Amino acid sequence: MVDLSVEIAGIKMKNPVLVASGTFGSGVEYAPVFDVSKLGALVTKGLTLDPCPGNEPPRICETPAGLLNAIGLQNPGVDSFIDDLLPQMLDFGIPVIANIAGRTKKEFIALAERLTNAGVAGLEMNISCPNVKAGGMALGTVPEAAAEIVEAVVQSTDLPVIVKLTPNVTDIVGLARAVADAGAHALSLINTLLGMAIDVEARKPLLGNVTGGLSGPAIRPVAVRAVWEVSQAVDLPIIGMGGICTGRDALEFILAGASAVAVGSAFFHDPLTAVKIIEDLQSYCARNKIEELRCLVGAAWKNQGCKE
Ligand SMILES: Cc1cc2nc3c(=O)[nH]c(=O)nc-3n(C[C@H](O)[C@H](O)[C@H](O)COP(=O)(O)O)c2cc1C
Repeated sequence: MVDLSVEIAGIKMKNPVLVASGTFGSGVEYAPVFDVSKLGALVTKGLTLDPCPGNEPPRICETPAGLLNAIGLQNPGVDSFIDDLLPQMLDFGIPVIANIAGRTKKEFIALAERLTNAGVAGLEMNISCPNVKAGGMALGTVPEAAAEIVEAVVQSTDLPVIVKLTPNVTDIVGLARAVADAGAHALSLINTLLGMAIDVEARKPLLGNVTGGLSGPAIRPVAVRAVWEVSQAVDLPIIGMGGICTGRDALEFILAGASAVAVGSAFFHDPLTAVKIIEDLQSYCARNKIEELRCLVGAAWKNQGCKE
């Protein structure tokens, strides 16, 4: 029997396949389609302190190899999440990671404090959203600013803190080093790439927000490169994401250095993607006589190969 289990910053998961923030609702929507408890962990949509209506529509459009979205962090606010959605998510019996999106350091601290004893297994700090004016990517592109805010959150909670980085920088390794030094327990790589599309008949941008975040297969090589570079430079576990659609895609991230992976845009095409990936990983390991999937983490650059 292949052992797919992983532990990320103390969060134990039976397999390394998570859902990417903002692409899976609360999981309740998917429960009639597949057994959600088969996943490694759930990650919430970005939570803000107050309820947030999000951006003006249209907020999503298809591009040749992925999606452009500018949802703008629509969510019911952290208190309503804790009261209504979280109990339903915890019922699946797998770890729930809360993705938090403050506009300021103060808001990030307040979010972390509210969630500390709420039952979530960890926090994922979204300092990388390209679709909001305050906070988001504005905080997450300058290493000093990112470090300051991460340090404040780490000090305000005893939950593991995972920091989600933006690829919209020239030096993602420098950013990763700064948040690692500030006390982050793990990293999520990557958030969406800034992009836009124009309706040539209307002669106007397709998205209400004009620009949006590009996700899906188009960004996979960028994401694999980010995981490859960061995992060799920073000694923190990485959750890799960006265009993962199959077990083969997930393996690329694991071999590049990710300890776990998250599925996002692919759910819009096939809601069974994550369970199929778990099965693919199991059969890849069985076929290659690998007893523990975790021994493949970084195997594309580490000198020692797998125990076979
Ligand atoms: C519709 C949509 C909403 C998203 N919302 C969030 C969010 O609230 N917080 C966040 O950190 N990332 C958010 N993301 C980014 C994803 O979590 C993920 O990092 C990105 O889409 C890359 O993975 P993918 O190519 O598999 O979709 C969102 C992505 C999409 C497509």
